[in-house]
Amino acid sequence: MPWFGWLRRKRDTNTTVVLDRGAFQVMGGRKRSLGVPYLMPADLEEMNRLDFQHYMLRYALKGNYAAPIGDHPTSILDVGTGTGRWAREMASLFPEANVIGVDVNVPPTDSQAKGGKDDLLPPNYTFVPGNLFEGLPFADGSFDFVHMRLLIMAIPHEQWPQVIRELMRVTRPGGWVESVETTILQQAGPAMSQIIKWSTTVLGWRGVNLLDGEHVGEVMQSAGLVNVATQPVFLPCGDYGGRVGKMLAADYISGAKGLGGVVVSRGLASADEFEQTLAAAGAEFASPQARCVVPFYVAVSQRPL
Ligand SMILES: C[S@@+](CC[C@H](N)C(=O)[O-])C[C@H]1O[C@@H](n2cnc3c(N)ncnc32)[C@H](O)[C@@H]1O
Repeated sequence: MPWFGWLRRKRDTNTTVVLDRGAFQVMGGRKRSLGVPYLMPADLEEMNRLDFQHYMLRYALKGNYAAPIGDHPTSILDVGTGTGRWAREMASLFPEANVIGVDVNVPPTDSQAKGGKDDLLPPNYTFVPGNLFEGLPFADGSFDFVHMRLLIMAIPHEQWPQVIRELMRVTRPGGWVESVETTILQQAGPAMSQIIKWSTTVLGWRGVNLLDGEHVGEVMQSAGLVNVATQPVFLPCGDYGGRVGKMLAADYISGAKGLGGVVVSRGLASADEFEQTLAAAGAEFASPQARCVVPFYVAVSQRPL
């Protein structure tokens, strides 16, 4: 069955379900977290996308972090940790550090995600459930390093200052805060531009503005963090960009599909229109003429002593 079969099979049900891993709503045929602005799915397909995206970013950004945290951090927090892959790798890299991943959605174990055996979790890694908007469940100054990556679709424009203040609160004086965000794809073809239009409309209903991804460093500065430095990184998206370009295009198509159920269920496009547009966007990315670029912004800052 082609990937879009789910659109036909499962028209929007908008059901609320409480499962052993938390409370969810089913919208556009896929499970999504309840009680937060974030609209992307919280299912195994999305978890696989997040892992794939993690490996792509680690390769493209040449590592997992940019802040000058030294060789012996003792406590690291990953906010909105997703599958926890970043936090688990940091725990292996810094075995002396206590590494915590926090997320509103409890990540699946490896055996749930992929079948087969569970990977051994590093003994110094812990997952803690938590909603960023209810305050992080940690005391002031708990961490040497606080990291948050790709929560752009989860944070309404008005809430960015509060979120950055919360990251600063749980960072120890002299500790580091790092944000990795993205913004809107540039030089997209007509089909991908249409998908971006639908997506920004849906996100806008939740108060989310994808353009905020470029300005996190400014929000850090306003919050009172110091030594703020933002490094923009422009990655190619499409076959023309070689390995990274192909991976990023696949990530984009999978992410667009994740939001597509909401676009369709909210009546912005029919299921057929959406699936045809997504197929056309895939062809645009594959074209040798394509020159799409995805901007990422790595913003690093320090809590004053
Ligand atoms: C795009 S994923 C990024 C995951 C991970 N940071 C990474 O880079 O692989 C966004 C994550 O933010 C989480 N999230 C969304 N809203 C949240 C909230 N209010 N509090 C905590 N986590 C949230 C989602 O459940 C999801 O795992």
